[in-house]
Amino acid sequence: MYAPYPENMMESIKKVEATREARMKTEPRRLTAEEKDDLLEKFHPDYNPDSFAEIKVGPNKGQKAPVELAEMLHSTSRLMTDKVDISKIDYDVDVLVIGGGGAGSSCAIEAHNAGANVMIVTKLRIGDANTMMAEGGIQAADKENDSPVQHYLDAFGGGHFKAKPELVKRLTSEAPEAIQWLNRLGVEFDKEDDGRMVTTHGGGTSRKRMHAAKDYSGAEIMRTLRDEVINLGIPVIEFTSAVELIKDDKGQVAGAVLLNMETGDYSVARAKTVVIATGGAGRMHYNGFPTSNHYGATADGLILAYRAGAPLLYQDSIQYHPTGAVYPSQILGALVTEKVRSVGAQLVNANGEAYIHPLETRDVNASGVIRECREGRGVDIPGGLKGVWLDTPMIEILGGEGTIEKRIPAMFRMYMNYGIDMRKVPILIYPTLHYQNGGVEINGDGFTNIPNLLVAGEAAGGIHGTNRLMGNSLLDVIVFGRNAGKKAAAKYGEVTLGNMNLDHVAAYDKELKDAGLDTHEVSPKLLPKYARHERTAE
Ligand code: FUM
Repeated sequence: MYAPYPENMMESIKKVEATREARMKTEPRRLTAEEKDDLLEKFHPDYNPDSFAEIKVGPNKGQKAPVELAEMLHSTSRLMTDKVDISKIDYDVDVLVIGGGGAGSSCAIEAHNAGANVMIVTKLRIGDANTMMAEGGIQAADKENDSPVQHYLDAFGGGHFKAKPELVKRLTSEAPEAIQWLNRLGVEFDKEDDGRMVTTHGGGTSRKRMHAAKDYSGAEIMRTLRDEVINLGIPVIEFTSAVELIKDDKGQVAGAVLLNMETGDYSVARAKTVVIATGGAGRMHYNGFPTSNHYGATADGLILAYRAGAPLLYQDSIQYHPTGAVYPSQILGALVTEKVRSVGAQLVNANGEAYIHPLETRDVNASGVIRECREGRGVDIPGGLKGVWLDTPMIEILGGEGTIEKRIPAMFRMYMNYGIDMRKVPILIYPTLHYQNGGVEINGDGFTNIPNLLVAGEAAGGIHGTNRLMGNSLLDVIVFGRNAGKKAAAKYGEVTLGNMNLDHVAAYDKELKDAGLDTHEVSPKLLPKYARHERTAE
């Protein structure tokens, strides 16, 4: 008998197999709005008051943020101890893009194409970003049974009606053109024999509008964008973090102080417009969760913008992807794409019960997994963790032999690396920290309240309300990244910079001191706390 799991798990799998035939005939029903609210309130980590702390300074003073984010907002700038002469300009550009992921790259491409002198500065390498890690796909209403209005309704409702309408409108109405742009650049989307795009459902979608490149969608999009940046000759300064924005005496953003991650040297970039595209915060491990995020996801852009005076929106709303890998431990927290459920796998507890519809929205499904585990219907995992099953053999039964290797080859390979053949046995999952729903507040054109400062991608808040649907993040990095590039390029010609200064950094520090705050930490963090800072022997 094929037995890649410990005995207790194999015993539970017998129950999963015993109910499979019946489960395949009747899908679990959808929850009512009241049932969803109840589940969220009882089990979603966003409803746990212990996860949050009050912000004591700055534009969002008095509001709450995850404890770890509040600590970063209450920490001091490196530049309070490290003195940098900002009159010595190392780079002088029209558009400075901070971040080399999907949003930053899309932004730089459009700014360059509009004639701007643009530069990307990125903490790791171009493409080291959550875009690269995205798997399941990108939404766009471009089929005849669908429309951007339908997409708007799904996204707005999925986000609990809290998104800024002007942002959701841009997201959904510009989605079909975003797909065509990527297609023209060379993204290898999955297509039917007649050339039409293959589309599937995601959680909370009323139409099949998920476009994918198997389950490597983000990697394929990032590959294409990175090639385009390189082909266009856009300068990319790698292994270099922006550690503080620079403003001028008119209150405009005027550039950034940069830190070379390898040498520790500072440099200064002057810019007429600045776009923050620094991505998410998974590596801060809010609430102690593992994460699906890339190594550099430490909320840097939020700290920079906040210290400069830009408010955050929904900084207290975090997305826990319902299906992170929880066994084996080597892949703890890795993303198990929602597409696994789109192509047929059900969520099943230790007793073999399909306790919830697999394509409820993410916050609801994450809460459902947590409930099953807390209430004793989870599977015990060595080390004290628990999880529920994702019944992957169903995919092959429903879609035919070979469906898993064809539609979700990355998942297949990830599990086969550990001797688990997901065609034959289910896999164990538990929620993983996946996305910051909130971020820096922007208007419909991507501008913040600070003149000439824009934000795009996961660092922006308000696009998704308090829960994002699958595939709307890859979409938002393209739509809002491109838009920021065009808007920044249209703007820089009007900008005359005054005297550059870091007065806002000193003023923020005074506010911290006046509030009696001293975390003994500096922010932005730049790397996770388990990063190795020592040099290894050569
Ligand atoms: O499940 C996934 O493939 C994740 C997609 C997303 O976050 O949009």
